[in-house]
Amino acid sequence: MYKLVGTITGEVGLHEFDFIVADEVRRNEYVKVWNEADGWILGRVVSIVEAEKKTATAEIIGYKDERGFLMQPKNTFSRDVKVFKADQTFIMDTLGLKSAGINLGMLEGRGDIPVYLRKEELIQKHCSILAKTGSGKSYTAGVLIEELLEKNAPLLIIDPHGEYITLKYENRSEEERKQMEKFGISPKGYATKVVVYTPANFSINPAADKLFRIDGINLSVNELYDLFPLSDAQLGVLYQSINEIKAEKEFYTIEDIIKKVSESKSSAKWRIIHFLEKIRETGILSDSPTRIEDLVKVGEASIIDMKGAEPKLQQLIVYRICKEVFESRKMGKIPPFMLVIEEAHNFCPERGFEKAISSNILRTIASEGRKFGLGLLVISQRPARVDKNVISQCNTQIILRVTNPNDIRALSRGLEFMSSEMEEEIKRIPQGVALLSSPSIEMPILVDVRVRRSEHGGRAVAMEGVERKEKIEVESKKKECNAREEVGRRSMFARLLFE
Ligand SMILES: Nc1ncnc2c1ncn2[C@@H]1O[C@H](COP(=O)(O)OP(=O)(O)OP(=O)(O)O)[C@@H](O)[C@H]1O
Ligand SMILES: [Mg+2]
Repeated sequence: MYKLVGTITGEVGLHEFDFIVADEVRRNEYVKVWNEADGWILGRVVSIVEAEKKTATAEIIGYKDERGFLMQPKNTFSRDVKVFKADQTFIMDTLGLKSAGINLGMLEGRGDIPVYLRKEELIQKHCSILAKTGSGKSYTAGVLIEELLEKNAPLLIIDPHGEYITLKYENRSEEERKQMEKFGISPKGYATKVVVYTPANFSINPAADKLFRIDGINLSVNELYDLFPLSDAQLGVLYQSINEIKAEKEFYTIEDIIKKVSESKSSAKWRIIHFLEKIRETGILSDSPTRIEDLVKVGEASIIDMKGAEPKLQQLIVYRICKEVFESRKMGKIPPFMLVIEEAHNFCPERGFEKAISSNILRTIASEGRKFGLGLLVISQRPARVDKNVISQCNTQIILRVTNPNDIRALSRGLEFMSSEMEEEIKRIPQGVALLSSPSIEMPILVDVRVRRSEHGGRAVAMEGVERKEKIEVESKKKECNAREEVGRRSMFARLLFE
């Protein structure tokens, strides 16, 4: 019944043991060994040496005691004890793997053991996906998003490259479709659950469903000061102008501010006017702003597709959204949800790197969001450049291949579970495999990330069908699109707003 894989030999330690391989065994394979005192003990093969005799080294994971705690055996194994291949139930029990939830894929090398995360844990305790470029971060994020959508969890996705819109369409890759059965899934598009917002307009982003707009009414000095740096003299002019407007009218627009500032006698006014005009030109301010209650809805994923927006404007958008969702969530105006931040190094950079207006609020959400049911999914290809306060607050960590020494060092510093063996491991992780650490799993494990149900947007191949479909949608959108939005926005939006 138990498959024998070898016999213990040589030096036997408390944390590791060697065995002579009797039957095919691969690296990362789970094995078990009987110990008189404690019963079956789980181990994992960490290396194999092909010499005269093929020997393998396994690390000892441990066993579950009657209280359900993972324990290490007190005694070393005797020599000549048999090593068996570990069975499904034993592995799942010992590692604490759940049998339902958010499915990330299969335990690496074990097509019979699915790996589930708890929805609440993901949403409330934050998650990060870190890896080098092209290693499958966005793909893996897509898997989690699909799973959360299946469970009707609300999502808000900050999408700098416009690659998440393809969640709407079913996966068309023949190669990946062939693998679906293995993961127990079938192709599926989430068109009815996904809404794409553009902060630009429909001529720049024809595939978007809705415009994203920020409230441009009654902007306060503080809000404006958050957006651009001002000297004391400039700040004074802005204060005075806004105070005067407030005395005159109940509601005012950026237009009113520009007009009032222009009337100032101070030469400090020019710089302020310059900034205000730049903001106005983006077209992002509106008297009918996007309602946060519409962005965060049960069973829906809202994508803020920022394709074409300048980095500073992107940071401003993220800043505004984060501030509003945090406040709204505190007041219970929106349901608990997950905020997905792609390219997080751009929005909460580590100190010493670039500055971003969105940094503080993201740090606040990372440390306090869990109290209010606001979860973060932070994605970045430069772990070293993401604010470590944010990374260290993520309880679930998904790490794909990382090779840059600075990034590996940053990971080791930021993540408790990283050992020197793991540093080596993540340099060689193949594409599609992730190192997962989660509070509900006893120790970090390798996961064969499942294929996507929906189309992956980061794919280099042109998706002709999708594009054609989008073109048709564009034509009808353009007609709807009101003239004010159309006029001249394209060039203005594409230009940099703030220097
Ligand atoms: N689990 C997986 N199964 C199948 N293919 C995968 C998987 N993960 C990644 N890939 C493939 O790897 C490619 C790159 O993945 P992805 O676009 O997610 O990389 P990335 O890490 O987000 O890169 P970038 O840093 O450029 O954003 C995808 O186009 C996809 O084909
Ligand atoms: Mg990506």
